[in-house]
Amino acid sequence: MAKGKSSEDSGLSEAQIAVHWKEEGYVYPSAQFIAQANMTDPAIFERFSLDNFPECFKEYADLLSWYDYWHTTLDTSDAPCWKWFVGGKINASYNCIDRHLKKHKNKAAIHFVPEPEDEAPAVITYQELYVRVNEFAALLRDFAKLKKGDRVTLHMPMTPELPVTMLACARLGIIHSEVFGGFSGQSCADRIVDSGSHVLITIDSYYRNGKLIDHKVNADIAVKTAQEKGQKVDKVLVWQRYPGQYHSKSEPVKGRDFIVNDVLKKYRDARVEPVKMPAEDPLFLMYTSGTTGKPKGCQHSTGGYLAYVAGTSKYVQDIHPEDVYWCMADIGWITGHSYIVYGPLALAASSVIYEGVPTYPDAGRPWRIAERLDVNIFHTAPTTIRMLRKAGPDEPQKYNYHFKHMTTVGEPIEPEVWRWYHKVVGKGEAIIVDTWWQTETGGFLCSTLPALQPMKPGSAGPAVPGIHPVIYDDERKELGAGAGKAGNICIRNPWPGAFQTIWGDRDRYVSTYYARYCKNKKSKDWRDWPYLTGDGALLAEDGYYRILGRLDDVINVAGHRLGTKELESAALTVPEIAEAAVVPVVDDLKGRVPDIYVSLKPGVKSGNDAQAKVTKAIEQEIGKIARPKNVYVVPDMPKTRSGKIMRRVLAAISNTLDIGDVMTLANPDVVEEIRVLVQGKKKVATKKGPEDIARFGDDG
Ligand code: WTA
Repeated sequence: MAKGKSSEDSGLSEAQIAVHWKEEGYVYPSAQFIAQANMTDPAIFERFSLDNFPECFKEYADLLSWYDYWHTTLDTSDAPCWKWFVGGKINASYNCIDRHLKKHKNKAAIHFVPEPEDEAPAVITYQELYVRVNEFAALLRDFAKLKKGDRVTLHMPMTPELPVTMLACARLGIIHSEVFGGFSGQSCADRIVDSGSHVLITIDSYYRNGKLIDHKVNADIAVKTAQEKGQKVDKVLVWQRYPGQYHSKSEPVKGRDFIVNDVLKKYRDARVEPVKMPAEDPLFLMYTSGTTGKPKGCQHSTGGYLAYVAGTSKYVQDIHPEDVYWCMADIGWITGHSYIVYGPLALAASSVIYEGVPTYPDAGRPWRIAERLDVNIFHTAPTTIRMLRKAGPDEPQKYNYHFKHMTTVGEPIEPEVWRWYHKVVGKGEAIIVDTWWQTETGGFLCSTLPALQPMKPGSAGPAVPGIHPVIYDDERKELGAGAGKAGNICIRNPWPGAFQTIWGDRDRYVSTYYARYCKNKKSKDWRDWPYLTGDGALLAEDGYYRILGRLDDVINVAGHRLGTKELESAALTVPEIAEAAVVPVVDDLKGRVPDIYVSLKPGVKSGNDAQAKVTKAIEQEIGKIARPKNVYVVPDMPKTRSGKIMRRVLAAISNTLDIGDVMTLANPDVVEEIRVLVQGKKKVATKKGPEDIARFGDDG
C-alpha cells in the first residue's frame, strides 16, 4: 500500500504542481442565481464552526419530520463508531413520501425516462409513489416475511422499481443493499453472502445501449454462487420492465422465484404504517472497493444520513420543490442513493431517472431530455462530461433548456473540461459545484456553497458547512493552506452522514479509516480520531482543496471505485495464471483504467489464450466496468528482495513515466524486458506522473 512510504514520495515537487495544477481564477455566480438560492447567509459557516459542533447539525435534522426528538446529538462513547441524534425516532420512507402528500401529492416525485426514445417518459406523482411503496412494503412484510433489521440484496438497474423497492424497505426498517446493475452475478453473490440476505430483488430486463438486456440470468448465477459460499437465498422477487411481460431466457424457478407484478395483486391498496426507527439504526448498506480483496459494506444510518443528505441537497444542490432535478448517476452507487433518491425526495423535489447510456442514440440525448422535462438542475461525472464533449461538442446549443445549477462528482475534473461544461452545457448561465466525497461519507465533504463562494475550475472548493478537513503528510505533520505540497486528506470531526461501520467488520472499519492518524486508541473524544479518506489533496492559499486522487490500492475508473486486489483475485481464478498485478493507466475519457500484468504458472506455454481468459474472468467475477485495458503476460513480476510485487514500477511502465531506480530489486533485468514488451524499444520516459500514479502501491 502507498501508506508507510519514504518522505521523498510524500507530495509533489513545486515544479510538478506548476505543471499539473496551475491555479485557476474564480468564476462568480450570477445575481439571478443568488436571488433564488436556498442559502445566501454567510453566517452559516460560523454556525457550523467547530465551536458549535456537534449541535450545529440540528439545523439539518430539523429539515426532517421526527416522531421523537433526540436527546443526544452526538454520542462518542463507542468511538470511532459515532452515533447521531440518539433517542430520536424517524422513518426515511415517511420523510421522502408521506409528509409531502398534503402539499405535493399531485406533483412529480419521479420522472422516469426509458432509454428507447419512442417510449414516453413516465411521471410518478408523490401520491402514486406512496401507493406503490405501500403495496410493495406489504408484499415484503407479508409475502417475503421480511422485518426490521433484515438485510435484502437488490440487483436492479435504473428503473423506478428501484427507488420504490428502497423506500418500501425503509418503510419497514429492512436494510437494503443495492448492487449496481452492471455488476456480475458473482459480484452480487459476494454481497448477498456478506450481508446475509435471504431475499434477492431483481428485474427481468432493462434497456442499455439499444438492447433489452436479460438481467434475470444474473440472479440465477448470484443465487447459485451464494449457495456455494454458504448463503441460501429463499426468495427471488422479480420485477418486470414491462409489467405483465417476462423478458428473460431464465425460467422462474418454482418456489423460489416470484414475479412481483403477479404477487402484488394480493396487496392492491394495502397500506403499511412506517416503522418508527431509532435514528442510529441502519438504513442501507453500500458495498465499495477498498485496499484489500473483499468489498466492504458501508453501513449508513437512518437519521444522521437522511439529515445530512437533506441538508446538502438543499444548500449545495440548491434543490427547491419546484425544481426538476436530474442526477445522471446510477442509483447503484452512493451518488444515486444520496442525490437521486433520499436527498431530493426528502425535499419534495422532482427527480429524474434515466434508464440508459447518455450517448444513446446520440450525444444529443441528454439535452433533449433536459429540454423535454425542463430540467433546471443537472448532475453528472467528469467521465460523462468528457464523453459528451468528445461525441457531441456542439449538441447542447441545439436544444432549448436552461440549467441554473450543475454538479460534477466522482473524479477530479480538468479545468478545460470544466470550462466546456460551464460554457457549453451550462450555456454560461449555470453555476457548477464540484463535489468531493465518498461512499463512506454519505454526502458531500468539499464543494462551494453556490451562492456564497465563487467557483474555481479544477478545485472542489472549501469544505462544506460542518466538515473540517486537515491534510497530513506521512509523518503526521499538518500541511496548511498554501503549503504547496500534497498529503493525505482527513476529516477532523464526525458528521451525521458518515457511515457507521463496515458491516460485520468493525476491526476493518477502525484499521482502514481511523488507525492511521488516531492520537489515542482508547479515547472517547472525537478530536483524537481523524477520518482518513485515502485521497491525496492540496490546500491552496484561499482554502480551496484540489483532490488529486486515491493514494491507496483503489483505481477510480470513470468515477467508479475498483480495488486492485479484487481484479487480481479475479485474474487468479484462471488456472494458468501464477501472479497478477493491476495498475492504473491515465485515460482521456475515463480518468483511469486498469492494466493487468500476469505471469504464467511453470509449464504453461505463453501464446495460449491467457489474455482472453483473464479478461473474461474479470467480467464474470466483477463486471464489464472492470475490464482491463491491456493484459500483459510477463516472464516475471518486478519484485523487492522480500518478494513483494513492485506495482509502482509497472504503473510507470504502463503510463510511460520515469521508472526510477530499480537496482535494489531482486530481479532488475525483468523491468527492461517488461518495458520493451509494453512500450516497444523506444526511448525511456523521464517525466513524473500524477500523484496517484507516482505513488501507486509501491510496497504492497
Ligand atoms: C474520488 C463517489 C476528485 C475520490 C461519490 C474519492 C473525487 C472517490 C471527487 C470516492 C471530486 C469523488 N474530485 N475526486 N469531486 N469525488 N472523487 O466512493 O478519489 O464511488 O475517494 O464515491 O472518488 O468514490 P466513491
